[in-house]
Amino acid sequence: MKIEQSNAPLGAQITGIDVAQPLDDATFRRIEDLFHERGVIVFRDQHLTDEQQIAFSRRFGDLEIHPAKLYLKPGHTEILVVSNVIEDGREIGLQDAGQYWHTDLSYVAAPSRCSLLYALEVPVKDGAPLGDTLFVSTTYAYDTLPRELRERIEGRTAVHGYAQRYRMQQAKGTRAAMSDEELKKVPEVAHRVDRSHPWTGRKTLFVNEGFTTSIEGLPKEESDALLRTLFDHITRPEAVYRHQWRMGDLLMWDNGSTQHRAVADYALPLRRRMQRTTVRGR
Ligand code: OGA
Ligand code: MN
Repeated sequence: MKIEQSNAPLGAQITGIDVAQPLDDATFRRIEDLFHERGVIVFRDQHLTDEQQIAFSRRFGDLEIHPAKLYLKPGHTEILVVSNVIEDGREIGLQDAGQYWHTDLSYVAAPSRCSLLYALEVPVKDGAPLGDTLFVSTTYAYDTLPRELRERIEGRTAVHGYAQRYRMQQAKGTRAAMSDEELKKVPEVAHRVDRSHPWTGRKTLFVNEGFTTSIEGLPKEESDALLRTLFDHITRPEAVYRHQWRMGDLLMWDNGSTQHRAVADYALPLRRRMQRTTVRGR
């Protein structure tokens, strides 16, 4: 197993390991430690069946079943298909997943521990991959926050919700209808802005553009302005790890300490096909 860290504040790549094979506890612990330290890790050159992706993901905890039922893999509902491919006139997956900075499932009471995205098809143009994914570390963001801002957020809580984001996506015409009934199943929740990571205990800046709507106890204008300032700080360009996908990458990110955003710079006939498993948080 060979590990190389990226030059950014997060990210590492691992080669020379086949995660389809059962991993002994010592190897697993090395992977878990690296994952906690670097927030984003990618296993290159994997050849996984659905069952193998699910089995490896389960080493990190129980799996979530995503609310976007239409895009779950038939027979393996733990897998969410993320793809622009159309088959028999039907979208096989979520086409517009995450084209804004976000943390998966920050809007539930126990936000997801991590997501694992496996690349089956990567769009390539003139020899260069398209459809990169950007990542930032929210522990790094917290650690580098100017003192004045750190004092302003200390002990505060922020509201996270799915419905307002869903409506924005739907207005763009890219999401199938979700009923009010279904949307009610994802009520808003509040989390500390300076949330401690549930596994490492490290402080993070836990607000994201995708799902955080307000900071509690502040007038709307002040809350909006403070959130904007925090989002800009978290996602400043020099803090970004940009992942260029290769077919066979299994990339996992820590939803307790990172945010990500998809770059939509490709379209059919260039195909992108990924599948995601999501581990429950605590
Ligand atoms: C996701 C997601 C980004 C991408 O699957 O959660 O945000 O680049 N994907 O596909
Ligand atoms: Mn996402």
